[in-house]
Amino acid sequence: MKFSITSVLGAGRSPLRNGHGWSAVAKRALPVALAWAACAMAGPAAAQAPAAPVAGNADAARQKVSMCIGCHGIKGYRASFPEVYSVPMIAGQNAKYIEAALKEYASGARTHPSMVGIAKSLSDQDIADVAAYYSTLK
Ligand code: HEC
Repeated sequence: MKFSITSVLGAGRSPLRNGHGWSAVAKRALPVALAWAACAMAGPAAAQAPAAPVAGNADAARQKVSMCIGCHGIKGYRASFPEVYSVPMIAGQNAKYIEAALKEYASGARTHPSMVGIAKSLSDQDIADVAAYYSTLK
């Protein structure tokens, strides 16, 4: 009896205990999920953003990029949702390029589901700020 209880418990836990890759993914996925929830709540503010061109402020972006770091902060990082894909490095990328890319996700011209959701939650000011911020990184 003792043997079978132990083996049942062991079997139930083994995917988390032994799958180092998956538990690492779960730890990374949680903050991202929380950031998304925060984005969803910030949605209405984005809708009120002015259409006029806005100047990016790298300092103002420090809070805003907390949700990007989970995916874009790690060299060679691969996210696992909705499928396994490589996350491009955006640090040091040209600000205009980052801004254009985010607007393409928001408009649907680019279709990656994670980035579309994120880009739609950003106002024009947010986009200008994070673009300015990432362009200053090395
Ligand atoms: C869930 C993971 C995830 C999060 C969070 C995330 N990104 Fe991305 N991002 C990706 C992936 C994956 C791609 C590549 C998608 C594709 O193939 O179009 C990408 C692409 C991009 C690109 C285009 C890069 C290029 O070389 O064309 C930019 C710019 C970008 N993200 C900015 C951001 C910013 C800014 C944030 C935070 C506001 C953010 N991302 C948050 C996963 C993420």
